[in-house]
Amino acid sequence: MIKVEGLTKRYARTVAVDDISFEVEKGQIVGFLGPNGAGKTTTMRVLTCFLPPTTGKVTVAGFDVQENPMEVKKRIGYLPESPPLYPEMEVIEYLRFVGKLKGIPSTELRSRVDEVTERCAVADVRTRLISKLSKGYRQRVGLAQAIIHNPDVLILDEPTSGLDPKQIIETRELIRSLAGDHTIILSTHILSEVEHSCERVIIISQGKLAAIDSVANLTNRLRGSEAVALEVEASSGRPSPADVQQRLGTVSGVRSVSLKDSRNGRLVFEVESLQGRQIRSDLARTVVNAGWNLNELRSVGLSLEDIFLQLTAAEQKDVEQPEGVQA
Ligand SMILES: Nc1ncnc2c1ncn2[C@@H]1O[C@H](COP(=O)(O)OP(=O)(O)OP(=O)(O)O)[C@@H](O)[C@H]1O
Ligand SMILES: [Mg+2]
Repeated sequence: MIKVEGLTKRYARTVAVDDISFEVEKGQIVGFLGPNGAGKTTTMRVLTCFLPPTTGKVTVAGFDVQENPMEVKKRIGYLPESPPLYPEMEVIEYLRFVGKLKGIPSTELRSRVDEVTERCAVADVRTRLISKLSKGYRQRVGLAQAIIHNPDVLILDEPTSGLDPKQIIETRELIRSLAGDHTIILSTHILSEVEHSCERVIIISQGKLAAIDSVANLTNRLRGSEAVALEVEASSGRPSPADVQQRLGTVSGVRSVSLKDSRNGRLVFEVESLQGRQIRSDLARTVVNAGWNLNELRSVGLSLEDIFLQLTAAEQKDVEQPEGVQA
């Protein structure tokens, strides 16, 4: 349904997207994951014909975004990072306006507006001014305008950003309910978002493709390793950070040791395990055997950045490329 081949997008000197290729099949929900500045929005803007690619080829339902933008736009609903809402319009007035712009015949307009207000749970605010809506409701109106012409493909740029937990759950449910009929790409920098809503995940980092995998595979990879925060007392400069780091690095099953803080005679390290290895008791024993005081030892979650480092540094060769795309 969506095919991206060797897409590069430059803004003056910045290379925002650097030679990425992927495919999304019909009916799939794909999470587009990456830290700030990774190039998610830029890629989405190319897919939705808002920006031309610098090089590379992008097709949606077989139509090239540069050669046939009108055909692409008909098939795509886009929820940008900040939805283009008109604050002085009522919800229903705005949706009718967007519907007309998107070429919905006037005989169908009323029923389409009714359907999307129902589906996106904005029926109870249909006659409110958009400027008076809460952020969550605005986001839902943004979704309603994205699906009003019943597009095959939905491109959602951080659909839950800035929402409260209840609204996040509601929005996720809404997105899941849209799956099946629609092919969906949603961007986020929150891993749990992807776990909840998506089947596949595309990870980009600094404009480059870091991984394409199923969510099940990715979460298995992550669950396999643990990260431990460990604090050692270092009064009058002993032991030195380098000593502790070196010693911890020799513990079996340790992937990496990094010094996070060294203040007031305390050294704080973060230690990450290799996949499937439990390292806490060996770490504790190593510190105690060395005659150092162990102040604290606790598990910390792996951050998305850690995952990126793992995926981009150690497993680049394992990146699963879609068929027909050269690595
Ligand atoms: N209009 C622009 N002009 C120049 N540089 C830009 C422009 N838009 C984005 N960039 C740069 O391109 C890179 C990718 O930005 P992009 O907005 O695509 O990232 P993102 O993954 O969506 O990040 P975020 O999570 O913060 O939304 C960044 O380095 C950004 O500074
Ligand atoms: Mg963005």
